[in-house]
Amino acid sequence: MIETQTIRLADEAAERDVAERLARGELVAVPTETVYGLAGDAADGKAVARIFEAKGRPRFNPLIAHVTGRAMAERYAEVDPLAARLIERFWPGPLTLVLPLRPDAPLHPLVTAGLPTVALRSPQGGMARVLAHLGRPVAAPSANRSGRVSPTTAAHVLRTLGGRIEAVADGGAATHGIESTIVQPCADHVLLLRPGSVTAAEIEAATGLAVRRHDGAAIVAPGQMRSHYAPHGRVRLAVAEPEPDEHYIAFGPLADETRARAVYQLSETGDLREAASRLFAALSAFDAPDIDRIAVAPIPAEGLGEAINDRLARAAADR
Ligand code: TXA
Ligand code: MG
Repeated sequence: MIETQTIRLADEAAERDVAERLARGELVAVPTETVYGLAGDAADGKAVARIFEAKGRPRFNPLIAHVTGRAMAERYAEVDPLAARLIERFWPGPLTLVLPLRPDAPLHPLVTAGLPTVALRSPQGGMARVLAHLGRPVAAPSANRSGRVSPTTAAHVLRTLGGRIEAVADGGAATHGIESTIVQPCADHVLLLRPGSVTAAEIEAATGLAVRRHDGAAIVAPGQMRSHYAPHGRVRLAVAEPEPDEHYIAFGPLADETRARAVYQLSETGDLREAASRLFAALSAFDAPDIDRIAVAPIPAEGLGEAINDRLARAAADR
């Protein structure tokens, strides 16, 4: 447990303090116009891994990267004319856009859960002012433990995350109380991935295009698909001693007698945060047509290990 400080977000000095904490890798709950977000530097793998850990999320769902506006968004994603129209009409505000990720984007792959798309939004409220000081995006899911209701006050955040994060920035009540609308602009329509404060009718009026619902209104995180993260080769799990022709994803110190074609170390010291932050890089490093067999070391099931094992099970699933 750590002591969670409360910072009153009353002036510029407080906003700078929060930005500096985020730049150092701390986790700070920060108010937006929708709900309080559990913010961490989106380029810092350990900070992002700690977001999942603090929330107790059993899976690495992709997170929303919060930006100051269109100029920052364009460093991370391809913004086509339809996306630009939505940005112009609804940002800053409660609309999140799922856009193609730029391959050179300085974003940790845990934010996008290794996907080729990224969810971006430009928020209002204290978060917007903190981002202006920080100058780069933060990943921020709602600041609550997984499965609990989304928080609209600092006190509400402390109830489930007190002792798990460095600070909460108290900027009063979040006004909307429900999360942003998430859409994916497509060629001739807009796909609604999560309903929220911006309505389908407003989006249709702004774009002149139809809004289509994703099967039912429920969120379908792409990571829910069973074999989504599967690399080209066959994956064996919980392997303490790999075969000599296997590519090995290791966790913890390697035994002297370990023989493998190549080794990608998730964490030499057995640190689950470090391992989480390197997982998608490991799977993609060994995702090649000439790599047929991948073995993965046993990962403990506790804490972040549950989310790591969830993703590994998907990578190893039959397809
Ligand atoms: O109002 C909000 O959006 C709040 C405040 C803090 O900004 N944030 C929020 O974040 O609700 P989060 O992480 O709880 O919700 C992000 C959702 C995930 O459920 C995920 O399914 C979806 O966004 N998402 C993120 N990246 C995606 C992607 N590349 N493709 C499809 N869905 C994505
Ligand atoms: Mg949530």
